[in-house]
Amino acid sequence: MPDLIITNGTVINATGTVEADVVVEGEKIVGLLSPGTAETAELQPKKIIDAAGKYLIPGGIDAHTHMQMPFGGTNASDTFETGTRAAAWGGTTTIVDFAIQKHGERVQDGLETWHGLAAGNCAIDYSFHQIIGEVNNDSLKAMESLADEGVTSYKMFMAYPGVFYADDAQILRAMQKARDLGLMTMMHAENGPAIDVLAEQLAAQGKTAPYYHGIARAWQMEEEATHRAIMLADLTDAPLYIVHMSAKQAVEQVAWARDKAKNVFGETCPQYLYLSLEKQLGARSEQWGDFEGAKWVCSTPLRSEEEGHLEAMWQGLRTNDLQMVSTDHCPFCMKDQKELGKDDFRAIPNGIGSVEHRVDLLYQGVVDGRISLPRWVELTSTTPARMFGMYGTKGVIQPGADADIVVYDPNGHTSIGVDKTHHMNMDYSAWEGFEIDGHVDVTISRGTVLVDNGEYLGTKGHGRFVKRGLSQYLV
Ligand code: URP
Ligand code: ZN
Ligand code: ZN
Repeated sequence: MPDLIITNGTVINATGTVEADVVVEGEKIVGLLSPGTAETAELQPKKIIDAAGKYLIPGGIDAHTHMQMPFGGTNASDTFETGTRAAAWGGTTTIVDFAIQKHGERVQDGLETWHGLAAGNCAIDYSFHQIIGEVNNDSLKAMESLADEGVTSYKMFMAYPGVFYADDAQILRAMQKARDLGLMTMMHAENGPAIDVLAEQLAAQGKTAPYYHGIARAWQMEEEATHRAIMLADLTDAPLYIVHMSAKQAVEQVAWARDKAKNVFGETCPQYLYLSLEKQLGARSEQWGDFEGAKWVCSTPLRSEEEGHLEAMWQGLRTNDLQMVSTDHCPFCMKDQKELGKDDFRAIPNGIGSVEHRVDLLYQGVVDGRISLPRWVELTSTTPARMFGMYGTKGVIQPGADADIVVYDPNGHTSIGVDKTHHMNMDYSAWEGFEIDGHVDVTISRGTVLVDNGEYLGTKGHGRFVKRGLSQYLV
């Protein structure tokens, strides 16, 4: 006897849409039946959800989050508990967070620490990429056991000198290793040393307001680093995934590489599709004393809409030069956290919180006619599953897959604001005042209903670690 049948809904997979009843037993989807079949066959499930007029989409997979990340002299304000609960509210049923190897630390110890932080605390399933914060003989050796641990991707930083920064020689060595092991190299592509010089010069001129964060992190810094990363990946034959892209010119580099059949991928984030330097960090925050702009300080930075960066991100998603939209969820409160940089933008902790809104925000691309329904699902669930070795279990509604399903109301409405819908542990919303179409009605994780029409039914500890396989995009 099935545990759950979701009737009358429209199932949307990356491959297309179909009217079907979805049958769930235990944690798995066991069948897709013609609409009405489940009822006539008298399957008598323990629970029925009527999804008439609603979409059934595979649970969202946010492949770039930083729960409780120590960064900028503080910790990201969402813990694994609060952040994964907020994710569930927004239709995300899996996150891939970043385990951190700090300078002077063993990779294995960093990974173990992150397991300790997440285990027993998550509302939804979770996995890890590994940050290699110091490339040396030991960390290169440690990379050899990552795949066995289910961690098949790692991140390096061309930015943040003195923190996570890796120079070209280190990157080259890590990429050689990754190629041999089949690991996906994820790259924060900004020229950190040059950015730090520009930032120092701006500060010396008294230009210390949040606005100047984006000026120091000019698009040339992103384009240059993206090109360099592509060249190093090409030389070493390592697959490369550029994270949180925001500059038009950097996406052009990825498009150029892909046109030359290089195994290069790009990710953007909702903030680079909807938020801009003009609207969020414009002239008003240039003025001394207006600290509001700190809400949108993140790296890569918000860019100019007038210069076409936002439109270029949408274009990249349409042409598949960008394959994924993750959040880079790294929230900090204004009070006591962003405020650390009140006198100097260089001390503002970098990051924006969006884990709760990604599925809804991307749905606006469907509403606006920019992307199709299957592409929405592909960007938010299916490609993340394929890119990071979870496909089949996650990222698709089909028999045998985990019953990670979202009942989405296309005619619903979502108001975003710190006092309205927001469940993230933040004292502001980067998305304050967004009134958008669509609504996550029900979120189901491995057959368990976590969110049911405005009611939270999830539990801390329901979420399990997902041991990932190798990327499907390896050649
Ligand atoms: O501003 C950001 N992106 N903060 C999180 C750390 C990172 O670089 O991904
Ligand atoms: Zn980064
Ligand atoms: Zn990040």
